[in-house]
Amino acid sequence: MAAKTMQAFCYEGYGGGAAALKKVEIPVPVPKEGEILVKVEAASVNPCDWKIQSGLMKPSIPKFPCVPLTDIVGVVVNVGLGVDDFKPGDRIVSLLHYWIAGGLAEYAVAPANQAVKLPREVSPVQASGLPVAATTALKALQLVGTKFDGTGKHLNVLITVASGGVGLYAVQLAKLGNLHVTATCGARNINLIKSLGADEVLDYKTPEGASLKSPSGKKYDLVIYGSEGITWSIFEPNLSENGKVIDLNPVFPNVVSSLEETPFPKKQLIPFMMKLSKEDLELLVGLVKEGKLKTIIDSKHPFDKALNAWAISMEGHATGKIIIEM
Ligand SMILES: NC(=O)c1ccc[n+]([C@@H]2O[C@H](COP(=O)([O-])OP(=O)(O)OC[C@H]3O[C@@H](n4cnc5c(N)ncnc54)[C@H](OP(=O)(O)O)[C@@H]3O)[C@@H](O)[C@H]2O)c1
Repeated sequence: MAAKTMQAFCYEGYGGGAAALKKVEIPVPVPKEGEILVKVEAASVNPCDWKIQSGLMKPSIPKFPCVPLTDIVGVVVNVGLGVDDFKPGDRIVSLLHYWIAGGLAEYAVAPANQAVKLPREVSPVQASGLPVAATTALKALQLVGTKFDGTGKHLNVLITVASGGVGLYAVQLAKLGNLHVTATCGARNINLIKSLGADEVLDYKTPEGASLKSPSGKKYDLVIYGSEGITWSIFEPNLSENGKVIDLNPVFPNVVSSLEETPFPKKQLIPFMMKLSKEDLELLVGLVKEGKLKTIIDSKHPFDKALNAWAISMEGHATGKIIIEM
């Protein structure tokens, strides 16, 4: 039986960063139809968590007070009506709905159709990094037909922000897919990205890195673009005939200029919004279980120090995932 109340961190309005997160005692949520109640063991922070706090989806999201975080791992303690594939005691990883969230708490309700049972071989910390970041990397790579058993075409991909949560999964998944990987990151992370199999790594603070050009002259079939401020005119000459730029932070002027310069585009700028399917999460958990994919951890924080985790993510210099352990 779950307790009646629990500790959680929540914020009451837009803005304020880590300092606005307050520890509160609130009722344990009750799972509705299709939901499961989970005792949270680990959760990871994503930039979208604090961007929503900053007002990215103002004025409709979130509802206040908001208990943030969407990526959780925990043990099922109760199930709602209509849930027959989970039972109390199952350890699961789940993506909570971003418009509700609720992961920075002792208990959270997860949608059963966005939860996957964890095999014994996959630790809560490893799995808690997966939902947003690894799914984003997977979905972006699937847009050019990448197959993670390496049987797809040998395409060229540029992965920017390769040292971030998304990028570190993207480099590993792209290599599983037999792609040629050019990556950008800061100088301190070049060896790490090479150790994950990237073929070419550029320091984003150098003119070569800023140009996004492949040192071996490759034209990219896919660019996973996780930064901001680069215009279509920088991407365009670096793309192959059918090259696609997946823009993780779409800005309207870039979309317009990509359409103006190529009115019937084979080269495309694709504004991206991650949407998880249970099959994707199962695939990712399976790859971790087989030792083919790993979560690179920037830092781990106890629940009481969750504000530190939030602040580190906001600074924008994490190398890999920031995890909170309950
Ligand atoms: N649209 C969607 O559905 C979706 C989904 C997931 C993520 N995103 C977005 O994708 C972006 C990446 O997410 P994330 O979780 O990977 O972020 P993250 O983990 O916070 O990324 C941190 C890393 O970014 C590196 N970095 C910063 N600016 C860079 C640049 N110009 N070039 C190369 N590397 C740079 C930093 O390296 P240094 O410390 O060396 O500067 C740091 O290692 C975020 O903006 C996020 O909001 C969007």
